[in-house]
Amino acid sequence: MGVPASANSGVVVVAALVAVVASLCGGARAQDMDKEWARPPYRGYFGPPGSMSMLPQSDVDLLEFPLNLEYLETEFFCWSALGYGLDAIDANLTGGGPPSIGGQSASLTPFVRDIATQFCYQEVGHLRAIKQTVRGFPRPLLDISAANFGKIVEQSLNATLDPPFNPYENSVNFLIASYIIPYVGLTGYVGANPKLLTPQARKLLAGLLGVESAQDAVIRTLLYERGMSRVASYGVGVAELTSQISELRNTLGRRGVKDEGLVVETALGAEGMTMGNVIAGDHLSLAYDRTPEEILGIVYGTGNPSQHGGFFPQGADGRIAWSFIA
Ligand SMILES: *[C@@H]1O[C@H](CO)[C@@H](O)[C@H](O)[C@H]1NC(C)=O
Ligand SMILES: *[C@@H]1O[C@H](CO)[C@@H](O)[C@H](O)[C@H]1NC(C)=O
Repeated sequence: MGVPASANSGVVVVAALVAVVASLCGGARAQDMDKEWARPPYRGYFGPPGSMSMLPQSDVDLLEFPLNLEYLETEFFCWSALGYGLDAIDANLTGGGPPSIGGQSASLTPFVRDIATQFCYQEVGHLRAIKQTVRGFPRPLLDISAANFGKIVEQSLNATLDPPFNPYENSVNFLIASYIIPYVGLTGYVGANPKLLTPQARKLLAGLLGVESAQDAVIRTLLYERGMSRVASYGVGVAELTSQISELRNTLGRRGVKDEGLVVETALGAEGMTMGNVIAGDHLSLAYDRTPEEILGIVYGTGNPSQHGGFFPQGADGRIAWSFIA
């Protein structure tokens, strides 16, 4: 447990050097470096105190990155289902991060609230699982406000909606907002898998991926059943809106088609045989993969991993996310 004294003093020397360089450079970069080095010595390699894990730094980074998305999912599902977030469930898991912006209880049918509650606690479990393996970081500032979801839907439809889209208003709106979230995490896990070096990290990732994709499938199935219903008074059907949201994500991810709505051209369906597309997959019906860079572009809503915004008004946390800050 703990870092050897020699390693500690090494960190101090480097930190001092970086502080000097940072003060010379000035500007945003210096602040980012301050942010990085203001933290206690990085102990990811050694796992949390008392644990026996010895993961290479690259595995630690790849397992810490999805904490950003797991925090987001936790906050959105818990607030929607229960009317409170992680602070009220297990404040320790927040690591002291700031409260989320704009969470509220959603107006849901008992059936959808039941499912949302299960998703909420599943996400809490995911946070625990990751933090039992790597040190992680505090919950970043998250914007789960109706206004932020509304902006994404308006961006997807390239239209101004009146009244604005509100994910907390009813079950269909909540499911559409949910369509926006676990799928992105899922593609990230598929992308991270081949880069992991240790069986311990791959085992955790497979466990997370399995449940994230199951959540996505449940959300998509519930939406598929409502595919032809209209969303509010917007004159757009549920299936059509999912296609537009997927299209937006493809644009923001900047790497072609990795996202598909609930109804597609037959060419994009399973074996090129179906228009129904309850589960998204490539031409072999394998899950699409995304890199952290693509994911940050999407969750920031900017298409650019170095320009934060959207769900992460102050950016995502962890070494991978910081590495894109120029
Ligand atoms: C939070 O951590 C403290 C100290 O480790 C512990 O005593 C407390 O039980 C924890 N709270 C929860 C809700 O797990
Ligand atoms: C969005 O709508 C505006 C105004 O109606 C139009 O000029 C623009 O081409 C549209 N953009 C896309 C990507 O469809």
